Amino acid sequence: MPEKFQETAILIRQEEIADQIYSMCLKTEKIAAKAKAGQFLSVYCNDGSRLLPRPISICEIDSKKGIIRLVYRVAGRGTEEFSKMHAGERLRIAGPMGNGFPLKKSKALIIGGGIGIPPMLELAKRVTGEKKIVLGFRDELFLAEEFRRFGEVFIATEDGSAGVKGNVLDAILEYRLSADVIYACGPTPMLRAVKEYAAIHNMECYLSLEERMACGIGACLACVCASKETDEHSNVKNKRVCKEGPVFAAEEVEL
Ligand SMILES: Cc1cc2nc3c(=O)[nH]c(=O)nc-3n(C[C@H](O)[C@H](O)[C@H](O)COP(=O)(O)OP(=O)(O)OC[C@H]3O[C@@H](n4cnc5c(N)ncnc54)[C@H](O)[C@@H]3O)c2cc1C
Ligand code: FES
Repeated sequence: MPEKFQETAILIRQEEIADQIYSMCLKTEKIAAKAKAGQFLSVYCNDGSRLLPRPISICEIDSKKGIIRLVYRVAGRGTEEFSKMHAGERLRIAGPMGNGFPLKKSKALIIGGGIGIPPMLELAKRVTGEKKIVLGFRDELFLAEEFRRFGEVFIATEDGSAGVKGNVLDAILEYRLSADVIYACGPTPMLRAVKEYAAIHNMECYLSLEERMACGIGACLACVCASKETDEHSNVKNKRVCKEGPVFAAEEVEL
């Protein structure tokens, strides 16, 4: 089983990069050296009334300097607490959690929607072959410029304020984008549409799923998704997103 660590990380930088979206850099002892694109951290609140860790995807990894970047949206009490923290403060984290994306050498389409965009940045950096990047936003853009360093970027916005009006699939169809392998992270309706598109066009496809989590280590079954095969742990057609995922081959999971 891949190694996981519990650490007290030091927050070295935090900024609001779009409305209610924060970018946080953490200095870690060991996690950054082992982390892969598509894995996540379990981030603990300092407020003791919130015991469960919050799963946040790894957006960037600097393994030499031991730095991990997270980009998150304020969704409730836990993420609100994180957003109020300043450089020098400490945060308990565990990771790297989950499996991460398999790196293929084929022509890739990297797709992120909403708060599913951050984990695709480290992936875009690591995929070595030809790649096209499709990003879908509700309205305000974030991270888009940073992606341009790693490939050609196509934008979709729901309100039509930038790029194609609509969702990531609208942008893919408008620009007739094709690839051998698709990597995607975003809301479930988007992943369902991407899965269908990949199946019709006979493309290999990997999806990063987001389910509500509790333990984050495979023990409580709070995060299961329906799967094709029977899971050895629970003996039903389920997979634990925190343990077997969050990345699955599209044909493995029912959305
Ligand atoms: C694998 C994975 C990766 C994620 N990566 C990111 C990311 O990179 N950026 C980002 O902004 N958000 C990400 N999320 C969603 C993020 O975990 C939730 O927004 C966050 O846990 C909300 O916590 P809260 O205390 O602010 O909200 P509350 O609603 O108060 O949370 C209450 C409880 O529900 C859990 N919870 C609530 N929403 C979610 C959710 N969507 N997924 C899982 N657990 C949830 C919390 O962990 C907590 O235990 C990810 C979720 C998963 C499962
Ligand atoms: S969150 Fe407990 S098994 Fe996944």
